[in-house]
Amino acid sequence: MKRKNSLEEAEKLISEVEKTKDVELDEEFRERLRIEIAKKIEEEVERKKRESLKKAKKEEEEYFVRFSLNIRLQHLTLAIGVILLIITGLPIKFHDSWWANLFFDLIGGIQVSRFIHRVGAGMLIFVSIWHTIYIAFTKEGRNEFKELLPRKKDFLDFYQNIKYMLGKTNERPKYGRYSYIEKFDYWAVYWGMVIMVLSGLILWFHNFFLGIFPKFVFDIAKEAHSDEAMLATLAIVIWHWYNAHFNPHVFPFNPTIFTGKISKERMMREHPLEYEKIMKEKLMKEGKADEK
Ligand code: HEM
Repeated sequence: MKRKNSLEEAEKLISEVEKTKDVELDEEFRERLRIEIAKKIEEEVERKKRESLKKAKKEEEEYFVRFSLNIRLQHLTLAIGVILLIITGLPIKFHDSWWANLFFDLIGGIQVSRFIHRVGAGMLIFVSIWHTIYIAFTKEGRNEFKELLPRKKDFLDFYQNIKYMLGKTNERPKYGRYSYIEKFDYWAVYWGMVIMVLSGLILWFHNFFLGIFPKFVFDIAKEAHSDEAMLATLAIVIWHWYNAHFNPHVFPFNPTIFTGKISKERMMREHPLEYEKIMKEKLMKEGKADEK
């Protein structure tokens, strides 16, 4: 609070007291009192400000754990692998363009790009094996997989969301642990993975595959790899990055998949049904603990 405002506030208080008590204070004493009261007012305003900041911070700090370390590491490996594949694959596809040649000059030649592309491919194959083991052999993995299976509700949510976007209803769909958007993301990776890994392996070990398959199989693999690469890049940059990071609620970056944590406020807005479920379970646990 500015000194001028607090002095004015103090002046009002003193005048009110003088008026109600019908007294006139000594001028020097009055001025000292005015300054003291102004200081107190400022202190009070500062205290209230600090308190509300503390409260806001506490609310912000109320987090839920959304992703385990295992999921976060899988996502990180997949993300690094795919980014490596995109930035080294696209210059190979557009090798005649000026920017591709600039890129090759910067990293030390097309051979380096081809090598890094194979490193990214290795990461992608590794994470797909890791994920398969995770969903087949761990309880957490099986639960996550079940949560990600498409259900009738996802189609209803999609319809409801379209209605909401068109302004036909004020009610947004209420999502559980995963929205239909997130499920779409997840299943798109399966499709992309099968096409990219199969066609990529045929390109990588072409001598071996040309020995057992006719040439047109190689041509199809090359075409599929090249076109699906564009589709995958656009799907990741436009669909996935928009939904996960650039949408106005979380812009410019959503740290949840890296930290594993989600704020209570986002949990209530983005996954209200899961929030309700967790709170119910918590209450039940507390109830049980009380009974003991
Ligand atoms: C999201 C994943 C991937 C993207 C975006 C991607 C992108 C690309 C692109 C754009 C090309 C150039 C195709 C052309 O010449 O028209 C390429 C080539 C290639 N890709 Fe991929 N790719 C991916 C995954 C993979 C995987 C998983 C493998 C191997 C298992 C692989 C192996 C190869 C090979 C061997 C080539 C030929 C490169 C060369 O000329 O040496 N790619 N990739």
